[in-house]
Order: sequence, then C-alpha cells, then structure tokens
Amino acid sequence: MRYVADIERYADSERLYARCGRSGVLLPKVSLGMWHNFGGVNPYERSRDITHYAFDHGITHFDLANNYGPPYGSAELTMGKLMDEDFRPYRDEMFISTKAGYDMWEGPYGNWGSRKYLMASLDQSLKRMRLDYVDLFYSHRYDPNTPVEETLQALVDIVHAGKALYVGISNWPLEPLKYAEEYLRERDVPLLIYQGRLNMLDREPLEGGILDFCEEKGIGFIAYSPLAQGLLTDRYLNGIPADSRMAQEKFLRSSRLTPDMLQYIKRLREEGLAAGRTTAQQALSWILGQKAVTSVLVGASSVEQLADNLKVLG
Ligand SMILES: NC(=O)c1ccc[n+]([C@@H]2O[C@H](COP(=O)([O-])OP(=O)(O)OC[C@H]3O[C@@H](n4cnc5c(N)ncnc54)[C@H](OP(=O)(O)O)[C@@H]3O)[C@@H](O)[C@H]2O)c1
Repeated sequence: MRYVADIERYADSERLYARCGRSGVLLPKVSLGMWHNFGGVNPYERSRDITHYAFDHGITHFDLANNYGPPYGSAELTMGKLMDEDFRPYRDEMFISTKAGYDMWEGPYGNWGSRKYLMASLDQSLKRMRLDYVDLFYSHRYDPNTPVEETLQALVDIVHAGKALYVGISNWPLEPLKYAEEYLRERDVPLLIYQGRLNMLDREPLEGGILDFCEEKGIGFIAYSPLAQGLLTDRYLNGIPADSRMAQEKFLRSSRLTPDMLQYIKRLREEGLAAGRTTAQQALSWILGQKAVTSVLVGASSVEQLADNLKVLG
C-alpha cells in the first residue's frame, strides 16, 4: 500500500524542534540514526515501519554514513528504496545526512580525509540513496595525516557543487574543530553542526570544551549513542537478550555490564520512575538539558523503542 504520512505529524512543532545553532535550520530534538538496524542483514519491513513511525511523528532528520549496514553501504541502499517507495513526495520535508571518514572500500582512497575519498564517497552515497543532494555532509573523523585544508576545502566544494546543503564535523578534537569553524566561516560555508558521542556515561564533549565552543560559535550539537548503545535503558536489566546489540559482542561488549554498571542503570531507572520517565527517557532528558545540544540521535531496533524515546519530549 502506498505510504501516506500522518497529517498530524507537525501538530506539536513547538515541542518537537530546536534551532540548530545560529542557523536557519530546525531539527527534531529526537533524530533517527541508521547505523544499526537498517542494513541488508535486517528485515526491510521492520526498517520501513521504524522510519514511517519516525516521520509520522515529526522526526524529519535521518542520519546515515557511507559504511552503515552491515554490509557497508546497505543502510543507504535501504534509504534509497524507502525514498522510491514511500518518501519521495516528502523529500523537502526531510533532512538527510551522510558521512565519510572511516573505512569504506579497499585501497588507499577508501578511508580518512582526502579530497579523493570524500568526493567519491559522497557520489556513491547519493547513488545508493537515490538522491540528488544530501542536506548535510559530514567529515566523519579528523585525519591527522591529511592537510586539514584539503579535507575542509573538499567540504566547501561539495556545497558549491550542490551535492550537500550544509556541512558538519564529527569526532574531531577541539583544536582542529576550532580551525575548521574559522576556515569554513571565512569561505561562507558555515559549520552547521558537530556530531559527537554524549551520554551520561561519556561526557567528553561536555568536559572537554566542545559544547562550550559550539555554544560560543552558534554551531549545533547532535549527540550520538545517547543511550550508550542501549546500556542506559532497561534492555540489560535481566541479562543479555539474544536479539540485542550486546549479544553480537561487536560494538557493545558484555564486559561493560559489570555489577557497578548494573547498579548505575538500576539507580537511573529509579530516578526515572520518580520523575515519571522510563530509563531511556531519563538518559535522553539529561542530554537535552545540556547547553548547545540541538538533538539526540537515537538508534532503535523496534517501533516500541523509538516510541519510548520520543516520549522524552513530554
Ligand atoms: N558520528 C559517529 O561516529 C557515530 C557513531 C555512532 C553512532 N552514530 C549515530 O548515532 C546513531 C545512534 O547511535 P546508537 O545506535 O549507538 O544510539 P543509542 O540510541 O545509544 O543506542 C541504540 C540502541 O539502544 C537500544 N534502545 C534504543 N532505545 C531503546 C529503548 N527505548 N529501550 C530499550 N532499548 C533501547 C537498541 O538496542 P538493541 O538493538 O539491542 O535493541 C538500539 O539499537 C547511529 O545510528 C548513527 O546515526 C554516529
């Protein structure tokens, strides 16, 4: 059946959106990340249900990267299929990002921060997603062996070529970030947003000055892995479910589930209950209360999880 988006999806816009730094862009305070659960190994119908639920509830921002899957590239292929089957009429209502910076293809040109890699990777991403342009293109990580001007000029040229409307930086240390902000501003391609890992267990952007810098310069901040990949939820309170990320022992290892960690999660759950929130909502609301934070970039392996996360907005 043809997808028709919920007509009520923008009914509560005041609550849903936040301005991204000092830009013209509003982003949903809860955005959907497609790192896991949207790859070729995942059931397409489930990915479809989650994205429909998102868009039907005003989540307009979908975050990808060249190597999301698995296999690499397949989350973008899923997005391409969704575009053709469901979302094409809504393209102008969507804010789609992708990135390049980590390993994507073999040989010397499929990784890090060269112009050669970034340009080719974005062209590939656009083909997979069946898009003419992305709203936001990120340098996914800082490359200490490529002149920083080469990486940044590639971002500027990508915008000038009409392949991305805005540029972002992810995982860069503070000093190169400062340089990037100035370089891009001087070329009239202002840095829209910084994407960094921020959650109650990992406060580096808060403690290391990135949030201060974003606030000072009017750059948006979007927090990835806001639930520490599921640790800061009820997912692991009674062991490790077979269908969980931790059961895969890859990106989230069972060694993190120490007795101290379990205690921490139980305490968080109790604080949440006292405040009328689920554990996940408690963790997300802590992030949304930090300065400069525009959005929390959640993952979800089910509609129920996404619904739970979205309720953090009240
Ligand atoms: N820039 C970067 O370098 C970078 C790095 C990592 C991520 N990201 C971005 O950030 C996005 C989110 O990252 P993430 O997936 O690690 O985020 P996350 O929200 O911290 O973790 C998502 C996982 O937590 C569990 N979960 C989510 N909501 C839940 C709920 N309400 N109750 C119980 N469990 C829940 C699910 O685990 P199960 O799968 O076990 O059900 C889900 O897959 C990515 O998709 C990507 O777009 C960017």
